[in-house]
Amino acid sequence: MESWADAGSDLFLEVTPGPGVRASLERALREAVRTGRLAAGSRLPSSRVLARDLGLARNTVADAYGQLVAEGWLTARQGSGTRVADQAEPGPPPPPRLLRRPDPGDPFELPGGLALPYNLRPGSPDLSLFPRGAWLAAARRALESAPHQALGYTDPQGTPELRRALAGSLARTRGVRTDPDLLVVCTGYTQAVGLLGRALAALGGRRIAVEALGFPDTRTGLRATGLAVERLPLDGHGARTDLLGRGTDAVLLTPAHQFPAGVPLHPDRRTAAVAWARSTGGVVVEDDYDGEFRYDRQPVGALQGLAPDHVVYAGTASKSLVPGLRLAWLAVPPPLLEAVVAEKRLADHHSPVLDQLTLAELIGSGGYDRQVRRARLHYRRRRDRLAAELARHAPDVAVTGIAAGLHAVLELPPRLADEEELTARAAEAGVALTGLDRFREADDPDRGRPALVVGYGTPPDHAFPGALERLCALLAPPR
Ligand SMILES: Cc1ncc(COP(=O)(O)O)c(C=O)c1O
Repeated sequence: MESWADAGSDLFLEVTPGPGVRASLERALREAVRTGRLAAGSRLPSSRVLARDLGLARNTVADAYGQLVAEGWLTARQGSGTRVADQAEPGPPPPPRLLRRPDPGDPFELPGGLALPYNLRPGSPDLSLFPRGAWLAAARRALESAPHQALGYTDPQGTPELRRALAGSLARTRGVRTDPDLLVVCTGYTQAVGLLGRALAALGGRRIAVEALGFPDTRTGLRATGLAVERLPLDGHGARTDLLGRGTDAVLLTPAHQFPAGVPLHPDRRTAAVAWARSTGGVVVEDDYDGEFRYDRQPVGALQGLAPDHVVYAGTASKSLVPGLRLAWLAVPPPLLEAVVAEKRLADHHSPVLDQLTLAELIGSGGYDRQVRRARLHYRRRRDRLAAELARHAPDVAVTGIAAGLHAVLELPPRLADEEELTARAAEAGVALTGLDRFREADDPDRGRPALVVGYGTPPDHAFPGALERLCALLAPPR
């Protein structure tokens, strides 16, 4: 006679007799499936057999089976009886595909969070330099003078006050030729580049060339807009703008200080970029992320000043003040303006008004320029100190690139050629370092010389000497 055991599985089901017996049987069967005691695909005894084994009415078992079929735990097919459904696999379900975190591979992210005491990764200014007093005073003035109207939804391009202040300041300090009506205030350059990518795609753009070394989020962000991202090679004169062709619609450059290689764009390459844009109608995007910080000479003016009708200029407060402000700005050629503003409106309507008004006050009062001068001196001293200490302790490590910005590229001798191994060793010594390779795409066949990108601007003052000492100890040749 057929029984539960004859069906191939000897299964203990704890069923409480009485009025709730059907619900109890359902719970017991679900539990058996969930824990894997009833494997996917396995056949259950007929309702008649199970009812007899458990001492229940046949209808009770048939109803319980019916319920579990409806819920998807079991399947019932003519001729093959009742089976455990395939998708009712035991074990914890994998997370939904869309919720799995991709590995961002962010070179600015510290391994193990912010636990390392000495952070020499590039990308951040010294946060302790933020002019809290001046910002507070400017915020107070801004709020006191702002009409209620200013606190509502405002112009997606940004507040008129900030755009006026920026237009004047950018012309004076960076040679940018623009007008308040052509400026768009953004929530960081990160947003700005996404808006630009989408605007270019909306206008029919398909391909954008991006320097072979660069901030990975920028490439990822641009790809997400639907543009194809081409790799523009670099050499000692900066990006090979002489290679730009007709099939490319836009190019993204860091002319003042290539990020992260640290070279300026050679005058011939500046000319080539502008000539390409003029002859093809292409768009140049100039990321002037640290243009305020040049130590060996006056900063070279913005490329945008040469061809304001073809170059989108992008600036940010992330280096001159702090990244947490999330304030950046674009000077946009007129034909692109409407599309960029439309994207900004869709993204977040506009950037926070009070911070915009405060920055406008800070610029207008001269406080912003004072802060930039103070920061310039601060970072210049740090760079000089880094170069001097390395010359003393690790003379075969070369500090390359121009004296500018908040980071330096250290070319490594053959004894230190393994960037991954070196940065792992640094982490063990409490120092967060980034290898140059992290700024290259994985499929780039040109690996270049091994190097570190050292953010000497990143540590607060109290941590800088310790960070430098540990860096030198790591790089010094064995005695
Ligand atoms: C090359 C480059 N451009 C721009 C920025 C500024 O980005 P954001 O304004 O979003 O902080 C960074 C930040 O690290 C950068 O590395």
